[in-house]
Amino acid sequence: LTWLSSGPENLFGVPSFKMARFVEEVLSGCPRSSQEKKRMRMRLALGVLCLVWACAESVEPSAIDAEESALDSDIVSGETLRAAGATTRRKVGAAVDIDALSKDPTYASILAREFNAVTAENAMKWGVLQQTRGVWNFGPADALVRFAQQNKMVVRGHALVWHLQLPPFVNDSISADDLRNVMVAHINATAGHFAGKIYGWDVVNEAVDDTGGKMRESVLFKKLGESFIDLAFRTARAKDLNARLYYNDYATEIQNEKSDAVYALMKRLIARNVPIDGVGFQYHLDARTAPTVEQMVTNFKRFTALGLSVNISELDVRVKDVVGTQAQKLALQGRIYQRVAAACRQVTRCYGITSWGFTDKYSWIDSFFGADDPLQFDDAFAKKPAYEGQRLGLLGEAAPEEPIGAELLPNGGFENGLTGWTGSGAPFALTAEARSQTSAVKVTGRTETYHGVLTTPASGKSRQQVSRWFSRRRLSAPVCPTHMCESPARPLRMAG
Ligand code: G3I
Repeated sequence: LTWLSSGPENLFGVPSFKMARFVEEVLSGCPRSSQEKKRMRMRLALGVLCLVWACAESVEPSAIDAEESALDSDIVSGETLRAAGATTRRKVGAAVDIDALSKDPTYASILAREFNAVTAENAMKWGVLQQTRGVWNFGPADALVRFAQQNKMVVRGHALVWHLQLPPFVNDSISADDLRNVMVAHINATAGHFAGKIYGWDVVNEAVDDTGGKMRESVLFKKLGESFIDLAFRTARAKDLNARLYYNDYATEIQNEKSDAVYALMKRLIARNVPIDGVGFQYHLDARTAPTVEQMVTNFKRFTALGLSVNISELDVRVKDVVGTQAQKLALQGRIYQRVAAACRQVTRCYGITSWGFTDKYSWIDSFFGADDPLQFDDAFAKKPAYEGQRLGLLGEAAPEEPIGAELLPNGGFENGLTGWTGSGAPFALTAEARSQTSAVKVTGRTETYHGVLTTPASGKSRQQVSRWFSRRRLSAPVCPTHMCESPARPLRMAG
């Protein structure tokens, strides 16, 4: 009967009335008078109809209905980053500032909504976990693990061994034997403590020098040689058989001297049967020099050809030095996030993308490079073109190539009927008439970072994506106060 209530046809596509007949004959067992059989069949058919009706009523309104109602009511926002990642089975993660997580409810709610992977920005580092030799403080990191478990997220461990943020007792005066002992003790304690809770560890971070294709002259390398890497991976594997074990580094997005040195190191480790599963590419990018999809994919594929997985482990995109208005900078940034997501999607063994934070409000970039806007959400947690770019890239939509128009207007508020404009950037409020018009619509509810007008004919389509701000034709007269309009100059050809 459950089968039967699945509508006109049941699971096997058999018309329900035939099933009713089948059920009746099974139930009846012994021969009955034709009159009784007729009454029974009527009762059974009636029962089936009631069941079908009941179930039909309980079905959620269709997705389209839901979208339509969203159009009428408020912000049309596409699916989340984690949902977009799920369509291509990619993890979408963010590095987490433990203080912000505990003190900023907006931070925590967006993190849980948008991401299915977290990395401790600092809480799992050697010098943070073990300030004093032999004494570990797992409290803050454990809080992050609990948050992740509560929100169905995986945890990337970062980083068991790194030349920075070392504890005070690891310094140039330590003996080689003592250094080896404290490193093994730290990995045993840390990988052991989190065993079973870590999706993947950055076991060794940034061991290759920035120039010369050689190993970084860290205290670990100087005292133990390259074999500290082998020892670190073997010790981690011994304490956690399930965690994936990664090497992680920066400035390796394309084939260059440094990524060649990392590639050579990976081949040496594999030749020595070191238990390494993959490589993290940090992707701390400057929008002026961001790589193309082809460059990223080509570089990734030589590492996956070694049998390793790859992941983008610390994505952020600095824009402060890009020439252009803020809206143009953020439009370019959005394209770069889209390209990065597209590159990961094109590489089978790229398991995901972690950005180094997700809101400009807490990014490390400001204190290291000067005030910038490197992430997907702005200081007020509003989505930026970078959010939409990453989402669309995860969904497989290629980033636009045409120049980022110089007509980005510092304010918006266009009325219906403005054809020839396309817009992008983030959720927006579509007015009811938006769906009846066949041209640009009134777009409100924007903040400083995205301006422009939706062009896609809104009539009929229930989910509007807005992926970039530029104009395909100049307005006869500026719709914004002259002093704030961009001059209708030739479209600015932006870097990258
Ligand atoms: O927690 C202390 C606080 O108690 C003290 O009052 C304050 C003042 O000095 O410092 C705080 O520690 C700071 C820590 O961030 C937490 O905010 C450290 O000084 C500061 O150096 C540390 O910076 C971190 C940096 O790594 C360390 O080099 C950044 O937050 C973190 O985003 C950054 O992340 C690294 C990755 O781990 C590896 N890849 C590069 C990436 C960027 O450098």
